[in-house]
Amino acid sequence: MRKQIAAANWKMNLTIAQGEALLDGIIAKPHHLKPEQLVVFAVPFPYLAMAQQKIAGKQNVFIAAQNCYSKKSGAYTGEVSVEMLQSLGIKWVVLGHSERREYFAESNQFLAEKINIALEFDIQPIFCCGEPLSIREAGTQNEFVTKQLEESLYHLSADQLKKVVIAYEPIWAIGTGKTATSEQAQEMHAHIRAELAKKYGKEVADEITILYGGSVKAANAKEIFGQPDVDGGLVGGASLIIDEFVAIIEGLK
Ligand code: PGA
Repeated sequence: MRKQIAAANWKMNLTIAQGEALLDGIIAKPHHLKPEQLVVFAVPFPYLAMAQQKIAGKQNVFIAAQNCYSKKSGAYTGEVSVEMLQSLGIKWVVLGHSERREYFAESNQFLAEKINIALEFDIQPIFCCGEPLSIREAGTQNEFVTKQLEESLYHLSADQLKKVVIAYEPIWAIGTGKTATSEQAQEMHAHIRAELAKKYGKEVADEITILYGGSVKAANAKEIFGQPDVDGGLVGGASLIIDEFVAIIEGLK
């Protein structure tokens, strides 16, 4: 059975004291996670060690970095390596978020390098893909997302791909309050799974967790996560509010 994940993306928000209070508040609530359900908090780099300590001993709860660099180590001032993440015990990293692609010019090719180094260090990537509004309006979103998968993931072996979680995040739905309808999410998730099946076979494609991201909140999580090919969500704004995120976790199938 493939994993379902409620992933929080704090982005560049919160002081460390606010982050601690948020984690404490969420962890203190009762959760009813099934064995295949995970909760992941993608926190800013300076909070990774604090967050890792807070979740110590918690079943099915993990901390993720929001990014990493493509090189092992060296003269890359200001960057963070996967080896550093590994040394903190971090098991997950978000790669290719649309904000990284847009503001920091991260290309599909560059992301392929980051995927490789993350896997080399046993850190599971949450690989983000998704189209801008102009592409959605032109009706070419499927081709757009296929190209992102091809250029960043298709060099992987099936065993490597199985360690990758895909997050479909239509850019027009991120932080805008404009959620894709559950039908739109399902349609794209089914497309992604069908493309993966073409390349890697149905059995492998069926094992890949595909998250939806873009204005997920307590009020819509259950319906979106209820779609057959939607295996949870990557959540920005609503992950900063204790009760919202707890309800989103409870919205997993
Ligand atoms: P949002 O962000 O939930 O605030 O739309 C989602 C994301 O960017 O991962």
